[in-house]
Amino acid sequence: MKKIAVIGTGRWGPNHVRNFNALKDCQVVAAADLNAEALARMQANFPGLQGYGDYREILRRRDVDAVVVATPTSTHASIVREALEAGKHVLCEKPLTANSADAWDLVKLAEQAGLHLMVGHVFLFNPGIDYLIQAAREEAIGPLYYVNAIRTNLGPFRSDVNAAWDLASHDIYIFNAILGRRPIAVSAVGASYLRQPVEDLVFLTLQYDNGTVAHAHASWLDPRKVRQITMVGEKKMITWDEFGTPAPVMVFDRFVVREPIYNTFGEFQLLTREGDVMIPRIPPKEPLAAQAAVFAARLRGEDTDLTRGSARQGAEVVDILSAVSRSLQHHGAMEKIEYGR
Ligand SMILES: NC(=O)c1ccc[n+]([C@@H]2O[C@H](COP(=O)([O-])OP(=O)(O)OC[C@H]3O[C@@H](n4cnc5c(N)ncnc54)[C@H](O)[C@@H]3O)[C@@H](O)[C@H]2O)c1
Repeated sequence: MKKIAVIGTGRWGPNHVRNFNALKDCQVVAAADLNAEALARMQANFPGLQGYGDYREILRRRDVDAVVVATPTSTHASIVREALEAGKHVLCEKPLTANSADAWDLVKLAEQAGLHLMVGHVFLFNPGIDYLIQAAREEAIGPLYYVNAIRTNLGPFRSDVNAAWDLASHDIYIFNAILGRRPIAVSAVGASYLRQPVEDLVFLTLQYDNGTVAHAHASWLDPRKVRQITMVGEKKMITWDEFGTPAPVMVFDRFVVREPIYNTFGEFQLLTREGDVMIPRIPPKEPLAAQAAVFAARLRGEDTDLTRGSARQGAEVVDILSAVSRSLQHHGAMEKIEYGR
């Protein structure tokens, strides 16, 4: 039985407790939060959980194998570093850290210590997103022209990171998984309407070296909760809508052909071709449960694909977000993305 502790019992931490406790070989034995009320709420919901105001007391417990870090992003670097130094495996919420230097320090620390450091890029475990990732590898869709993501809601508002770090961090990870590569440059514009200097609204455009463009609209100042991705290929177009009915994914047999114009040389017209719309059957599955199961398998030494949610990929997302922040400061100037490794 692997003993797990959760640090941070705010909005998201309890979901980790529920999902790890549902695994037959894991038990969440402790939780920590600076906020006594949040901690008490968690303990009321999960009796038997030992509560701590100071997470360092958990790190001193020799029976705890791994910790989940679900505190605000600005606190991840120091908590994860201390956890690794205490010999604990870590599942850290996204984004891994609030700056690149910290992210790559943690990658090295975990690798040197031989400990698992996984980043909670949970959409990797969303069955609809998995469909997009697999479809992008199939010839049937053709080369991808562009990918567009919309991730909006009214709140929750954060003060330590902007809407891009909070929301588009998911989409950046998804884009890289779909395209099987990382972007080379980014341009971003945004605005801080509610609280300076944190942007509530960000539009960012990523350039990939194969010519694909990926765009993300991230906002916590929007009347509607939207989680959507559109993937446009040369031969097919696929949409994902987390709340879509009757199903999240739709595959459109729509594309454009070039036809030579009669009696002219080298000129052509663009003609649209419209076929069927296919709705694949995608069995629902809680992504956080799948993520917890993979982390648990990793603790048992049974996960063969250690790239999923790897600390290196998490650090690359931080590198990309750092370039987003630089571009925001320079009013949308195209920024080259510098990768720590
Ligand atoms: N994967 C997802 O879909 C998803 C969804 C929501 C949040 N998150 C991530 O989870 C993390 C937490 O988000 P949230 O919405 O739960 O935030 P939250 O503000 O609701 O909760 C964070 C909790 O951490 C506690 N905390 C802060 N500093 C601490 C410290 N030093 N020691 C112990 N506790 C401390 C706070 O008191 C608070 O209760 C963020 O990194 C966020 O990006 C991920």
